[in-house]
Amino acid sequence: MGTQALDRAAGWLRASGATVCLTGAGISTESGIPDFRSRDGIWARFDPKDFDIRRWLGSEEVRRRYWAAAREGYRLVSGAAPSAGHGALARLDGAGRLSLLVTQNTDGLHQKAGHRPERIVELHGTSHVCVCASCGEKLPRPEVQARVEAGEEIPCCRRCGGALKPDAVFFGQPIHPGLLARAVEGAEAAEVFLVVGSSLSVRPAAALPERTLLRGGRLIIVNAGPTPLDSRAHAVLRGRAGEILPPLAEAALA
Ligand code: APR
Repeated sequence: MGTQALDRAAGWLRASGATVCLTGAGISTESGIPDFRSRDGIWARFDPKDFDIRRWLGSEEVRRRYWAAAREGYRLVSGAAPSAGHGALARLDGAGRLSLLVTQNTDGLHQKAGHRPERIVELHGTSHVCVCASCGEKLPRPEVQARVEAGEEIPCCRRCGGALKPDAVFFGQPIHPGLLARAVEGAEAAEVFLVVGSSLSVRPAAALPERTLLRGGRLIIVNAGPTPLDSRAHAVLRGRAGEILPPLAEAALA
């Protein structure tokens, strides 16, 4: 990835009066959390159909498989440390250079890196809270994990007996309307839209950058692999977020 492209992108970030960043699972791979669509990603090991909400609610076997895998999975997420990429974005936020961070990730690593929670939209929810699919009762994820570790194979709501699930958006579930509205509003007002670590495969997140482009804003993509918007981006910085974002943030703050 050429330094001219990085310097050009940094100049746009420095001059921007409104910058929105969208992150995906790629920014957390350097924290030890697999992404979804890379060769060694989650969809190479688990069937995405098991994460369709109707199938998940309709099958005890699917839920049993989920909670058995979640023992290791949640340990990985809860023990993960923010990457250099998360840190660089938190520095941009701290310097007031990011109006909004929209993340597709549910790992909470942006908050762990010191990013202001009120500037974060967790579009796909969070892995750190569980919710009852029937009555909506919420409880801390560690509490449910402890029950699974103690032998409760398919944890159920103690209030109504409904199925407990992580408070993350499964396929077939709607995105919280308020969160989506905030993300769309941010993208439409953005002068610069920065995508980090996403294949831009899943809407509505993948459609956000286009809202900035349609209003004449600039698009910068920092990603290890190709995305469908590379040809419309003003800068594509190909590589690892943890290697690109620190110098990019430093140059943008210079
Ligand atoms: N630095 C930069 N990019 C990386 C890195 C890294 N260290 N590691 C992986 N990538 C890139 C990959 O090349 C890939 O293009 O990050 C992208 C991750 O893409 P996906 O695995 O598709 O993850 P994401 O875009 O977040 O998926 C969106 O799909 O399954 C649903 O709900 C799930 O939120 C998820 C959504």
